[in-house]
Amino acid sequence: MRSQTWSLIAVSGLALAAIVVSNLVTSDASGQAAPAAAPAKTSTEITKAICVVHPLGDSKVAGKVVFTKVDGGVEIVAELSGLTPGEHGFHVHEFGDCSMADGKCAGGHFNPEGKDHGKPDAEVRHVGDFGNIKAGADGKASYKRVDKLITFSGPHSIIGRAIIVHAAPDDFSQPVGNAGARVGCGVIGIADPKMTH
Ligand code: CU
Ligand code: ZN
Repeated sequence: MRSQTWSLIAVSGLALAAIVVSNLVTSDASGQAAPAAAPAKTSTEITKAICVVHPLGDSKVAGKVVFTKVDGGVEIVAELSGLTPGEHGFHVHEFGDCSMADGKCAGGHFNPEGKDHGKPDAEVRHVGDFGNIKAGADGKASYKRVDKLITFSGPHSIIGRAIIVHAAPDDFSQPVGNAGARVGCGVIGIADPKMTH
């Protein structure tokens, strides 16, 4: 009887110790998990992207296009040089491949919903339809607008696709705006949001 009581006390003590230890381990583990989860969430959300545009073939077209997540969409800011004066078709094409001199490997306009070609602010357009970028007499062009369709994740994501600059203006005719040869190409990549370019 006496030894049974002692063993009961010993078992209870062990059980209590086990509970205390497991509580310590649990709170320690959750204490470590909480701070680790916060930075992981912000680092996976893409808020900025950049495309460095390179010349295709004999062209001199170069520059960059910066995409920044803003209220109501994504702001597009482009600065290009080496263009002939006037308007040039300016689109996101399906594939981020600028390896061929004619830029054909970038595919057609990025059009995940199978819609008709259109103006950038039209109801019906390809997601990649940015309209035209207009160069001055010095061959320099800038472009700035907020786009409501493009995103950095999901079916409308432009990450890993290409910006194509054309020799001729996009006249918004079907099927792709008749903008002629491809003179500039760049792949859209994830940018460091801390960079101020
Ligand atoms: Cu195009
Ligand atoms: Zn289009």
